[in-house]
Amino acid sequence: MNLKDLYIDFFISKGHKQIPSAPVVPENDPSVLFNTAGMQPLIPYLMGENHPYGTRLCDYQKCIRTNDLDEVGDTTHHTFFEMLGNWSLGDYFKEESIEWSFEFLTKHLNIPIDKLAVTVFAGNEDIPFDEVSYNKWLELGINKKRIAKTVEDNFWIAGTTGPCGGDTEIFYFRSDDEIPETFDPEDNRWVEIWNNVFMQYNKNSDGTICELPKKNVDTGMGVERTTAILEGVNDNYESSVWKDIINLISNISGIKYEDNKKSMRIIADHIRTAVFISADPSSIKPSNTDQGYILRRLIRRAIRHAKKLNIDTSSDWEQQIAQIILNKYSKYYNELITNKDIVLEVLKNEKIKFNRTLEKGLKEFEKITKNITDNKLNKDLAFKLYDTYGFPIELTVELANELNIQVDIEGFKEKFKAHQELSRIGAEQKFKGGLAGNSEIETKYHTATHLLNAALKVVVNKDVHQKGSNITPDRMRFDFSCDHKLTDEEKSKVENLVNTWIKAELPVTKEQMKKEDAIKSGAECMFIEKYPDIVTVYRIGDVSKELCGGPHVSNTKELGYFQIKKEEASSAGVRRIKAILNSDN
Ligand code: SER
Repeated sequence: MNLKDLYIDFFISKGHKQIPSAPVVPENDPSVLFNTAGMQPLIPYLMGENHPYGTRLCDYQKCIRTNDLDEVGDTTHHTFFEMLGNWSLGDYFKEESIEWSFEFLTKHLNIPIDKLAVTVFAGNEDIPFDEVSYNKWLELGINKKRIAKTVEDNFWIAGTTGPCGGDTEIFYFRSDDEIPETFDPEDNRWVEIWNNVFMQYNKNSDGTICELPKKNVDTGMGVERTTAILEGVNDNYESSVWKDIINLISNISGIKYEDNKKSMRIIADHIRTAVFISADPSSIKPSNTDQGYILRRLIRRAIRHAKKLNIDTSSDWEQQIAQIILNKYSKYYNELITNKDIVLEVLKNEKIKFNRTLEKGLKEFEKITKNITDNKLNKDLAFKLYDTYGFPIELTVELANELNIQVDIEGFKEKFKAHQELSRIGAEQKFKGGLAGNSEIETKYHTATHLLNAALKVVVNKDVHQKGSNITPDRMRFDFSCDHKLTDEEKSKVENLVNTWIKAELPVTKEQMKKEDAIKSGAECMFIEKYPDIVTVYRIGDVSKELCGGPHVSNTKELGYFQIKKEEASSAGVRRIKAILNSDN
């Protein structure tokens, strides 16, 4: 049995309910492009909402981290990974959590206790030393010398605000060397395999920390890393997670893994992530903004490295690789079965598009770099490579780095903005915010998105549906399906209707019900697959009914005056509204 199955079975035996993995694109968490941790879809519940599945949950969550995209190619970095997690929402706390982690590692994964070491929170001015965890580890038989106390590394928060707390991290000795008696967390032969966060605080945007309504546990274990460790390989790509994919790439190219590990790792990683993004219910397609841009970058970088392996990139090489990934994971993720054809088509179309210009672009790049005398590639040339040959700037930078040439990235970005595209290129860097940034104003904007959604249906068309949203403390952004630019009349009607509802002081209520009943009752919902069988439905008077995790204000009168600032195209068939709430009206 593999790690995922063992893990889920174990936590089910400890009274946990398995929840489905949320989509890789978060539905209502606007400031992140992708889910980056198992806890992210659970933020509303960690903040106090009741979870329909109860107080003990476990899952494997699809995660995507793109900050390290350019690091992929070494032995450990991946853009997509699966995170195993178990949660207590105000149920068990430190003692049980530690006990079960220990039991799973030593009894089910059969890790000898001597290979384990842990860190615990040493305490700071806000939060005291975690004596309970420390004593629990001792009681379980971990030697005192293998328990390190640290501060920075034992406080976990996603970004800068939101649920957080001290944690205890579990390390495994990944080396054939003699195991040192004393554990040094800085010694990289010790690798972290599990993080148990005791999430009992919320960090507010003013930096203050307050207690959450409940004491929660949030744990995370990376499948790729732990599998490699258990299988005793130092290169993650040699573990059973990757081996068949790497072998296939090696067969297609006729090149041994040893002879170009970097390109093979990049292809394996990037195609796997591209498969999961394009299979997601959010229907992301390669584009020049946000998630679509990441998808484009991944596919194009994979193609470039396929060329380095002398693969005929006009063949069906990427279809073969995608197919092996689809087969491997479809047991765990149903969307890989239902959206298989879409995935294969996305890859093929992007390949055809890029292949058309790649060859010429590489020639142009060579021509450009031959004439460079000061090791600098200027913004105009970088922009030409982007605009004419479809080279994502990161690709140009990677190619240039191989020749020790510096690219004027800032200049490129300025030029880029001037062309009014990709101004949100930096969005992937963001983590904080969204549901994690549940400030009062963000909560108001959240409720306002439901009203806007309902108003658009009345004024424009009942078939208008939400395609995305993004909330900051300063404004809301709402994407919706619509085949035309809104007229001034439509915009003012929508604005007036939302304000009428606000003035009507409509109560906001929530209720839990079976998903099928919620859908039958006509409740609005963006990604039906994402929701568990029992869902929370938010109603605003009788004007809006939506499946949602919250949080929301309790009455529309709290919202102030709603004003549309902008209405524009977002992508084909999708319009975008930016709006604000004014408190003084
Ligand atoms: N949220 C913590 C992490 O990502 C534990 O799951 O490490």
